[in-house]
Amino acid sequence: MGERIAIIGGTAGIGYSIAVRLAKIGKSIVIGSRFQWKAEEAAKTINSMFKEVCADGAVNRKAASEAEIVILTVPFKAQVEIAENISDCLKPNSILIDVTIPIKRSEDGFFSLIRLKEGSAAERLRKIIPEDVSLIASFKNISQYIIDRLDYIPKPSILLCGDSMEAKKKVVNLIDEMGGEPVDCGPLSNAFLLEALGVLMVNIESISRRNAYVRFEKLPD
Ligand SMILES: NC(=O)c1ccc[n+]([C@@H]2O[C@H](COP(=O)([O-])OP(=O)(O)OC[C@H]3O[C@@H](n4cnc5c(N)ncnc54)[C@H](OP(=O)(O)O)[C@@H]3O)[C@@H](O)[C@H]2O)c1
Repeated sequence: MGERIAIIGGTAGIGYSIAVRLAKIGKSIVIGSRFQWKAEEAAKTINSMFKEVCADGAVNRKAASEAEIVILTVPFKAQVEIAENISDCLKPNSILIDVTIPIKRSEDGFFSLIRLKEGSAAERLRKIIPEDVSLIASFKNISQYIIDRLDYIPKPSILLCGDSMEAKKKVVNLIDEMGGEPVDCGPLSNAFLLEALGVLMVNIESISRRNAYVRFEKLPD
């Protein structure tokens, strides 16, 4: 089963889809929620889908304290509050994967990127969490509906960036195991590009009324 993975905000949306996928590939997971009952219910549902019991549910702080990899999947408006709430519980040398997109719906009905003075939601998060926790921005360009269909579509590109090569390697392996195509996009200062692509994907899906994903193909040598 390897390292334990916590999904903060894993009771719904993309966090829940990631949790189901991780359980499916045999990872030991803990679903984090603001509410114990909600976390337990989500874990119970996931355990009922698979032969092996692999999911636990806990309040966010406890979930974060139990994992070597923590995935943050809460709405942008809650990112700072939840990050401050779990920050002192994160294990030294653990990895935090930020999935948050600073997105807003404009008056014209389309979606736009919220410009942050820190550069990106991920860099804003960097200032909140301990230095000995590696921060990786990822899963920002892929929707929960594509994660649900990873067995049925050609490997979608899942972009990631961050400043620790060691942490990036682990997340690359995780994305690969999940059935995505990891694409290293460089340092954490590039996170705004991933977030912008996430907003673009939401606009494309909204206009076309279809789920969409990107694949970066490399020419053979
Ligand atoms: N949905 C996607 O396909 C997708 C794709 C890429 C990136 N993202 C990004 O991923 C993040 C999560 O998106 P989502 O659509 O999955 O969100 P969501 O379904 O609205 O919420 C996910 C979880 O966050 C917690 N939450 C909700 N509102 C909260 C609040 N006000 N304060 C604290 N926690 C709250 C809830 O968990 P509890 O109630 O159990 O605490 C909820 O189950 C967002 O930043 C989004 O931009 C989403």
